[in-house]
Amino acid sequence: MKRHSTSVTLIGTGRMAFHLGHALLRAGVPVNGVCGRDAEKVRDLSAQLGCKGFTLPEVPAADLLLIAVSDDAIASVAKQLPKGEVVVAHTSGAQGHSILGARGHRGVLWPIKSLSPGKPADLSRVPLVVDASDARAREVLMDVARSVSGKVVELPLEKRRLLHLTAVLAANFPVFLMREAGRLLEEEGLSPELIVPLWKSMSAKVSEVGPEQALTGPARRGDLKTITRHLERLDGEPDLRRAYALLSELILKAYHPRKRGITDL
Ligand SMILES: NC(=O)c1ccc[n+]([C@@H]2O[C@H](COP(=O)([O-])OP(=O)(O)OC[C@H]3O[C@@H](n4cnc5c(N)ncnc54)[C@H](OP(=O)(O)O)[C@@H]3O)[C@@H](O)[C@H]2O)c1
Repeated sequence: MKRHSTSVTLIGTGRMAFHLGHALLRAGVPVNGVCGRDAEKVRDLSAQLGCKGFTLPEVPAADLLLIAVSDDAIASVAKQLPKGEVVVAHTSGAQGHSILGARGHRGVLWPIKSLSPGKPADLSRVPLVVDASDARAREVLMDVARSVSGKVVELPLEKRRLLHLTAVLAANFPVFLMREAGRLLEEEGLSPELIVPLWKSMSAKVSEVGPEQALTGPARRGDLKTITRHLERLDGEPDLRRAYALLSELILKAYHPRKRGITDL
C-alpha cells in the first residue's frame, strides 16, 4: 500500500467519521487524531482507528482538518479550529465551503453514499465529490479523496446541491416508502420480508437496465382500475394516499398522458 504524506485530523464521532475514518485507515492515510465533544465516543472511535483521541476544542495539527459533524454544527465547530495555512473541509453534500468561515484553504469532501451503523463501508468505488476554495485546498483534498476512492469528481456548490437533491429522490424517498409498505403489511399480520426480495431485485435491475426499462406496475401499464382500487384501500391513510396518487400521476404523465387526472389529488 502507498504510504501517504497528507495527514488528516478527523472531527466528529458519528456515522461519517466512523466510515471515513476506517476508509482513511485502509487507504494508508495517516490519521493524526479523532476529535469530538463526547469523551467516551472519542475514546471508542480513536481506539478503533489506532490513533489519539481529543476533546474539542483540542485539535491536533494535520494537513487536513476534516469536519464530519451534523450540518447544523459545522459552522460552530469550524470556529473552534486553528486559523493559518491548514486546509479545513466538511463532508456535507448540502453545504458550501463558505460555511467554514473566513480562512485561506477551505473545501468539501462528500461521499455519495448513505452511511449507517454497521460494518465499515467500502468507499473504494463510491463517488467522492470534492469542492475546493483554492489550489492548496484542492491539492490536499484530491490527494486524500483519490487515496480513498477510484471515483473522484470535482463539483461546485450548485451542482452539488442538485446532486444532493437527486440523492434524496433516488435513495431516501424509496426507503421511506419501503418502511410504509412494511407497516401496512404488518398491520394485516403479514411479514414485510415478503417484499424484500422484490426490493432487492428492483435496485439490481435499475443498475443493470436503467429506470426506463426497470419500471413496472399499474401506472406504468396504465391500469387505471387497479390504481383506483389501491387508492380506495388507502382511504384511511390520507397522506399515503396522496403520495400514491401523486406518484401515479407522474408516471401516467410520462407514459400515458391521455390517462392523467383520474386520481383526485
Ligand atoms: N451518514 C450519511 O449517510 C452521510 C452521507 C453523506 C454526508 N454526510 C454528512 O456527514 C456529516 C456527519 O453526518 P453523520 O451521518 O455522521 O451524522 P451523525 O452520525 O448524526 O453524527 C453527527 C456528529 O456530529 C457531532 N456534533 C453534533 N453537534 C455538534 C456540536 N455542536 N459540536 C461538536 N460535535 C457535534 C455529533 O457529536 P455527538 O455524538 O457528541 O452528538 C456526532 O459526532 C454531515 O455533514 C452529513 O451531511 C452523511
